[in-house]
Amino acid sequence: MSTSCVAFAHDAWVTPAARALIAEHATTVDEDRLAEAHGLYIDAGHPRRLDAAYLDRAPALRVISSLNVGYDNVDIDECTRRGIAVSNSHGSLTEAVADIAYLHVIAAFRQIGEGVAWARDGRWLAGPPPVADDLAGSTLGIVGMGAIGMALAKRARASGMTIVYHNRQRRRDDVEVDARHVSFDELLRTAKGIVVLVPLTAETRGMFGEAQFGAMSSAYFINASRGALVDTDALYRALVAKTVAGAALDVTDPEPLPPDHPLFALPNVFVTPHIGSATRQTRDRMSIYAAQNLVAGLAGKRLPQIVNPAVYEGGTFAQKGDASGYATP
Ligand code: DGY
Repeated sequence: MSTSCVAFAHDAWVTPAARALIAEHATTVDEDRLAEAHGLYIDAGHPRRLDAAYLDRAPALRVISSLNVGYDNVDIDECTRRGIAVSNSHGSLTEAVADIAYLHVIAAFRQIGEGVAWARDGRWLAGPPPVADDLAGSTLGIVGMGAIGMALAKRARASGMTIVYHNRQRRRDDVEVDARHVSFDELLRTAKGIVVLVPLTAETRGMFGEAQFGAMSSAYFINASRGALVDTDALYRALVAKTVAGAALDVTDPEPLPPDHPLFALPNVFVTPHIGSATRQTRDRMSIYAAQNLVAGLAGKRLPQIVNPAVYEGGTFAQKGDASGYATP
């Protein structure tokens, strides 16, 4: 077999079907043989950032296939410059992440974290339990209205919420979920629940800080995308000052959030450990999509879920074709 790959994904994430498909086309080697690897099969949970320094150690690399949809752990421009095709599992987790985001909306509005603590800690009859807010009649603001945002909006509409959203451009199909496109400032000022679903990029890193939390009027803040979109210290201060009424977070910065982190001590904070895509069916899809992308890349074919199509332009990718069977796309 002439190709090899390095797999970083958690074993539990790689289904037997994906494993078998990869085994048909490549030999999986350990990271200490990175220098000879033609492909990487990764998930966003592994600690390495695939940047220039890392890629220098992998001169034979043709393809990086990520199980995830988010690819903020990969320096895409650097990969493109080097002719390395990168893929994600676009479309694999829309409904699962929309479910977890919806759960977090409900958890924030209904103060589920505090309610669970009351029941668990014997405070059931100790006084009036926390009283929360209705979803029905409240406005939900979605920042980053992609496929997951649309799927969340459908769920929130079913709860009787009014939907506003902010994207750079208005979506033509926003009428399908009766959502209104507004400026970021208007969303911050008017929404009772604010859900972040934008990808993490250099531009969006830290987009929720002191000023943004200060502009909210006692809103619930929900993050189901990436922790680093948020200045965690600023969020903590806003929660203490109650300019933010509560937070429900499936993602945090840092991640994992240490058990002694001050956020855990606040009653109005609900945290889950980045489990947006953690259903059997979704993980199966992610795993097989990633295996299919990897195998295509190892064979020199265009990746079905290419993230950096520019890699196919200008001949960079073609120049990497060689006698070992790497066809040019
Ligand atoms: C992704 O794939 O980017 C999700 O965050 C995984 O849970």
